[in-house]
Amino acid sequence: MKEAIEILKRNNLLKVIDEELDIYLEIPHIAYVEVKQEDSKAILFTNPIDKKTGKKFDIPVLMNVFCNEKAVKLFIGDGDKIGNEIESLLKMKPPTTFSEKLSTFGKLFALKNTIPKKNRGKGECQQVIKLGADAKLSDLPILTTWEQDGGPFITMGQVYTTSLNGEMKNLGMYRLQVYEDNTLGLHWQIHKDSNHFFHEYKKAGKKMPVSIGIGGDPMYIWCGQAPLPIGIFELMLYGFVKNKNAQLVKSITNDIYVPRDNDFVIEGFIDTSSHEKSIRIEGPFGDHTGYYTLEEEYPFMEVTAITHKKEPTYLATVVGKPPLEDKYMGHATERIFLPLLKTTAPDLIDYYMPENGVFHNLILAKIKTLYPGHAQQMMHAFWGVGQMSFVKHAIFVGEDAPDLTDHDATVKHILNRIDIEELLVTKGVVDALDHSSPKFAVGGKLGLDCTGDEIDELGITLLSDEELLSKIQSITDEVKDLKQYYTDTKNPVTVISVDKTRKQKELFEALEPIYENIKILIIIDAKNQNDVNNPYMLVWRVVNNIDSNRDLYIESDTICLDGTNKNSFDNFKRRWPDDVDCNKEVIQDLRNRGILNITDEFVKKFQL
Ligand SMILES: Cc1cc2nc3c(=O)[nH]c(=O)nc-3n(C[C@H](O)[C@H](O)[C@H](O)COP(=O)(O)O)c2cc1C
Repeated sequence: MKEAIEILKRNNLLKVIDEELDIYLEIPHIAYVEVKQEDSKAILFTNPIDKKTGKKFDIPVLMNVFCNEKAVKLFIGDGDKIGNEIESLLKMKPPTTFSEKLSTFGKLFALKNTIPKKNRGKGECQQVIKLGADAKLSDLPILTTWEQDGGPFITMGQVYTTSLNGEMKNLGMYRLQVYEDNTLGLHWQIHKDSNHFFHEYKKAGKKMPVSIGIGGDPMYIWCGQAPLPIGIFELMLYGFVKNKNAQLVKSITNDIYVPRDNDFVIEGFIDTSSHEKSIRIEGPFGDHTGYYTLEEEYPFMEVTAITHKKEPTYLATVVGKPPLEDKYMGHATERIFLPLLKTTAPDLIDYYMPENGVFHNLILAKIKTLYPGHAQQMMHAFWGVGQMSFVKHAIFVGEDAPDLTDHDATVKHILNRIDIEELLVTKGVVDALDHSSPKFAVGGKLGLDCTGDEIDELGITLLSDEELLSKIQSITDEVKDLKQYYTDTKNPVTVISVDKTRKQKELFEALEPIYENIKILIIIDAKNQNDVNNPYMLVWRVVNNIDSNRDLYIESDTICLDGTNKNSFDNFKRRWPDDVDCNKEVIQDLRNRGILNITDEFVKKFQL
């Protein structure tokens, strides 16, 4: 971490805050606000304190290490360049000429570095060793990010596990809840690799070893979130990208190998002998969807050792409403994985997962269409591959579409091509965090094939926002506000906010007189800081909240998406989670103390 801090400093990407700040809400709130700023920086908090107990830590906390694209390039590299290297390896043909032979050997030789190297003896991460009762999680400045969180959570932990037969190794980035000084919750979700390993140990009635790294090279944590297939150790990706092997040492109290330059390593075991000994209620936790994930059962481990460097730094992140650090991490992942995705979807040209679609809620893909149904075929391929299968809404465009990151041009291109006949609604695996599906981890999928030509004129009569709102309010007073977007396209989008008093299909049907004025209607709640004039947060809200099997209605030529919170009107049986919001008093206090320099407009824009 010290090296990372130096790199950040040299590149003018680091703020240092020496003031005493609380590990409960204060530090995470400051980091949360910072990474939403235009030229966001990493922050080193040199004096973390637990105000509840008065405990002062001599361990600094580093946050937002991936604070922007520049920081990602410094620590990971150029995503496009790495993607191209992977692509050239995947396409490698037997060399014919001498110069081709040389270049092929170079590439193969580089692959040698992908195998992590096991070192004998102790690593820098083991300069200080605390065993048994001396290994206390409360000695680390572990943050509580959100008011409703179930406790403190380690948010940038590299979780190392192995399969029961030791043949497969895994590094996953999962959040870890602190219960007591020596028990730590392991939030590996149902689809994730370590969860599969856990079930092997459980079936065999064997203790499962787990080691958790914190800090070291920031690249480790990025590798931990990379969606590699089971059986491929993420540290091989480290070796490939860095062109040098990860250097590992054995944990002190279990057989798991961890990178030697980590700042901390937490070691332990899960006792799988009974449900009570292995499973506890985890959460709630303010998650990267911008909603809380509610309490659920997850495994936990007993800590047997905590080791660290002599002068360690504690690394953490904040997840919540976008944009946050995971935007920049995710963007690098997207670029690097494009060639790998092309191996299952060869006619894919590009794809883009905007961060306000929180990655799994919205994907835009550009393809070369070769035959009718090609886009649908690729949608099914996406929905059938690894973590790509979590994607809820997929929009496919053809080669003639603009650059996908050109938001305005891409939206126009899409809206000019949405054809009701081409909507694909299906069902499948969704992310374990999805709160809107009627059942846990299974829900609706919506695919829009916009690869065709522009559709014909729609024959609607456009009204101004005021005229349209007044027409609607003459039908019902449930509707509070309205804004139309992209009225210059074939499918203008009308957003209305409502005080919800019934199932929104009924409202949509009652609005039949306005079908002659609208094409796509989106409904949101008037509450929850929603603002019809804030398209960035509208996209975030709506793609989070809809399940296309329940919330998509079509009448005549009009499409309606119900982006409201679901409840008994919708026959919704699960608990609907709260938004992840900052504590208003903490924000105000930090503003009064001059630590946060933000305007009311900023608070509103990002719905803090
Ligand atoms: C900031 C951040 C936090 C994450 N937290 C979790 C988590 O708590 N649980 C989880 O299963 N995945 C979490 N993920 C996603 C996983 O890291 C990701 O799916 C990874 O590919 C899992 O690795 P695996 O396939 O080896 O299990 C998180 C990702 C990021 C960027």
